[in-house]
Amino acid sequence: MFQMSSMASKIKTAVLPVAGLGTRFLPATKSIPKEIMTLVDRPLIQYSMDEALAAGIEQFIFVTSRGKNALEDYFDRSPILESVLVERGRDDLLETVRDISQDSGRIAYIRQHSPLGLGHAVWCARHLLGNDPFAVILTDDIIQSDQPALGQLIEIHNETGHSVVALTEIDPTQSEHYGLVKYSHTDGSVVAIDALVEKPPPTEAPSNLAVIGRYILTPDILQSLNGIGQGAGQEIQLTDAISLSITNGYPVKGLLINGTRFDCGSKSGYLHATLAIAASHPTLGQAFRRIIRDLQGPHTQPTGQS
Ligand code: UTP
Repeated sequence: MFQMSSMASKIKTAVLPVAGLGTRFLPATKSIPKEIMTLVDRPLIQYSMDEALAAGIEQFIFVTSRGKNALEDYFDRSPILESVLVERGRDDLLETVRDISQDSGRIAYIRQHSPLGLGHAVWCARHLLGNDPFAVILTDDIIQSDQPALGQLIEIHNETGHSVVALTEIDPTQSEHYGLVKYSHTDGSVVAIDALVEKPPPTEAPSNLAVIGRYILTPDILQSLNGIGQGAGQEIQLTDAISLSITNGYPVKGLLINGTRFDCGSKSGYLHATLAIAASHPTLGQAFRRIIRDLQGPHTQPTGQS
């Protein structure tokens, strides 16, 4: 899907926090991890993985929780399935299945014992992170773009050495669903962030630029996470820690992402992503667009109804 970035990247590790409860997607998420739900032809997590690999990420830290075993199994080898596919001569499917499983040791799984917030989930990875900058990917956020969104952030990080967060413009009435940035200076699509405010009411929103689920973070963020308490929604918020890092003298950039972002953590966002991705799918797209046209046509009304 993506072209490999030509720029040498210093960011090799990505943290994928997947320990949330997914309450917006109940009842499905009562027993299925949200990340395993299928978006068109692949589980959500595969989109994050493809984007990260295309951006040069080599190591993955999944912050998981009870009930997420399906996620670990997804990236594991599947000897019985593979031998059946060999017997049946299904080399195409065999290749797909083998491509998914990563080399042993490439993915580390750690547990967040209670869903105390995104900031806390990132903090849970602290002993595995060392002293290098790292990426954070929220699998809920699917970003359709020519250059992988994470690659766009890495380029700005490589130019500046600073933490970089992905931004999108939002409808100001929706501010209570986002972390918003306060800024005084922009350079094209790059914003020098002064502070972040998590889920403010529209009257207190510092701008209409919202943080979305891709981050490059310098290691100072781990100290900042040590120093913050609960924030909005009684959760330990990553945005609060980023704000504290700025106060402590570590500059943070925001990058308006070139692409379209879908919030697949919500039912409507997930449906929107399904339509957009299916419509532009290389093999399914044509048939899907025909289905949509037919659904909009006059003969979709059941007989006898007006
Ligand atoms: P969300 O805000 O979407 O929360 O988290 P959620 O629990 O997944 O879903 P809802 O709001 O109840 O429907 C954004 C990302 O942060 C992770 C989630 O798994 C998701 O990838 N997260 C959130 C954690 O890993 N731990 C937490 O304590 C909170």
